[in-house]
Amino acid sequence: MKYSRYSVIVIGSGIAGMYSALKLTEHTNMPDGILLMSKYKLGDGNSKFAQGGIVGVLRENPVDSCVSHINDTLKAGAGLSDINAVKFISESSDEVIHDLMGYGIEFDKDKKGGLCFTLEAAHSIRRILHAGGDATGRKIDEGLCKAVLENEDITVYEDTLAVELLISKDGECRGVIAYNTISDEYEVIYSAHTILATGGTGQLYKYTTNPAGATGDGLILAYNAGAELRDLEFIQFHPTSLAVDNGENRFLISEAVRGEGAKLVDKSGQEFMSKYHDKRELAPRDIVTRAITSEMCLKHLDKVYLQTSCIDRSTILNRFPTIAGVCSKNGIDITKTPIPVSPAAHYSMGGVKTDLNGCTTIKGLYAIGEASSTGLHGANRLASNSLLECVVCAWSLADYLSFANLVAPRKIDGTIKETIEGYEQNIDDVVYDTDHLKTELQQLMWDNVGIVRNEEGLSAALNKIRFLKSTFRGTKRCLNMEEYEYRSMLEAAELITIAALNRRESRGAHYRKDYPDTAECGEHSIMKKGEVKVAYQVLH
Ligand code: FAD
Ligand code: SIN
Repeated sequence: MKYSRYSVIVIGSGIAGMYSALKLTEHTNMPDGILLMSKYKLGDGNSKFAQGGIVGVLRENPVDSCVSHINDTLKAGAGLSDINAVKFISESSDEVIHDLMGYGIEFDKDKKGGLCFTLEAAHSIRRILHAGGDATGRKIDEGLCKAVLENEDITVYEDTLAVELLISKDGECRGVIAYNTISDEYEVIYSAHTILATGGTGQLYKYTTNPAGATGDGLILAYNAGAELRDLEFIQFHPTSLAVDNGENRFLISEAVRGEGAKLVDKSGQEFMSKYHDKRELAPRDIVTRAITSEMCLKHLDKVYLQTSCIDRSTILNRFPTIAGVCSKNGIDITKTPIPVSPAAHYSMGGVKTDLNGCTTIKGLYAIGEASSTGLHGANRLASNSLLECVVCAWSLADYLSFANLVAPRKIDGTIKETIEGYEQNIDDVVYDTDHLKTELQQLMWDNVGIVRNEEGLSAALNKIRFLKSTFRGTKRCLNMEEYEYRSMLEAAELITIAALNRRESRGAHYRKDYPDTAECGEHSIMKKGEVKVAYQVLH
């Protein structure tokens, strides 16, 4: 076992993780340094796949205002957004996005050199900045990766999986146990402050826009450490992912394509969105997703189509080069042929409960980005608010930590010692087929804890998940990364399913066919280890 210590450990190197590490080196002198850890390579994660853009209520866009953005966000959040979080993030956007530009990130400009602002569903104004046409995430990710690699104050660990947080007898976080997936070695890393920037949970579902690493690890690290999780039942399903079967995750067809005028039609070319909402293709994301699901079900289809022929050829090719390229590889010329699309799991609104500085309910443990629940998104996220939340909260956490004690712990207690010993023990040589197990879980979640839910399906899913848990490796230590990821997925699936069972109403992205109405007063769901109860369950 290796040992090391840092002032701050950042777990996850998407946009939230990288930006927080960079801001920390600017704000503060770190006596024990900063470690930025990633389970795959630097800059991996959902971030680099972001297409549509990032919300910015900027001085360059005088027709926009924070009031308008706050109202749009609150409306999308369906009664569960926290007004203070929404205000803070909106009002910080101008300063933080200009700071981001300082890392060489160039947002797209018009011919006169002014910033371009685009429109996405449920925004009342064009306020979304984009880069490289539809490669916003990749451009920001590349800019931040470069800055991190040039920064001598940040130590980078790639191929390193955080497997358990070190929690002292008095309930404070003192670091993490990490597993190097290449050398198969464990390392005990002590730290004064540990930041979870571990992203989302899309991989829990059969169809998802998320890449392989989105297995909910951060949620489960925090939960097992005793932190509170909030609103896990709210999973956003994006209406339009490319519906071609190539055995990979679903490629996203950005909402911005609809923002530029594309229309949804069925197999016979018939438009249908006017039946569901007066804003048609630009209705809130959950409504478009359920409308597509309903059409597919009524007409026995496995996909619908996005007709782009109404968009000028040069506009579509310049604005969406990545989408045009991927479609072309799949034999679809987006200037001529409608794009086959269907919904896919996209974003987790809930997460580790934090305040606006990223503080969780555990001292020394923080969460930012998609892994967190700041209160911005409520029951449904407004498009392009996620990247904004990543950077604003990373920036405010770095600011907060500049006033903290940054000396890494020198002594450990018996509780932490016991945790470490759990990774020194031998494990049996049972081999699990994790590929098969993951596929089975993803199908179960898609069928029963997906876009349209009911008590019977949720109860059946919970029973099956608990059975799968009882038959999986019982020791703390797993054999490899795939086993650790699968274990996180199982635990996250159980919590999401319980949260969905307990919410007997429909709100935002959580739709219950058996409880289609929205309760008058919206309440958050909170989960804490040892206190989770299933309030209602159909017994089989
Ligand atoms: P991620 O970028 O997902 O990074 C998570 C990091 O944590 C990764 O480095 C991963 O390796 C690491 N990690 C996870 N678990 C562990 C562990 N156990 N140990 C070590 N490391 C770990 N949002 C917008 O606002 N605008 C958009 O246009 C937009 N488009 C999107 C398009 C797609 C296809 C997708 C999937 C999402 C999109 N989103 C968009 C959502 C947005 O991209 C994400 O919510 C956001 O990028 C999350 O950033 P993050 O830094 O929190 O996490
Ligand atoms: C998209 O481009 O449609 C995704 C935007 C988002 O998830 O915010």
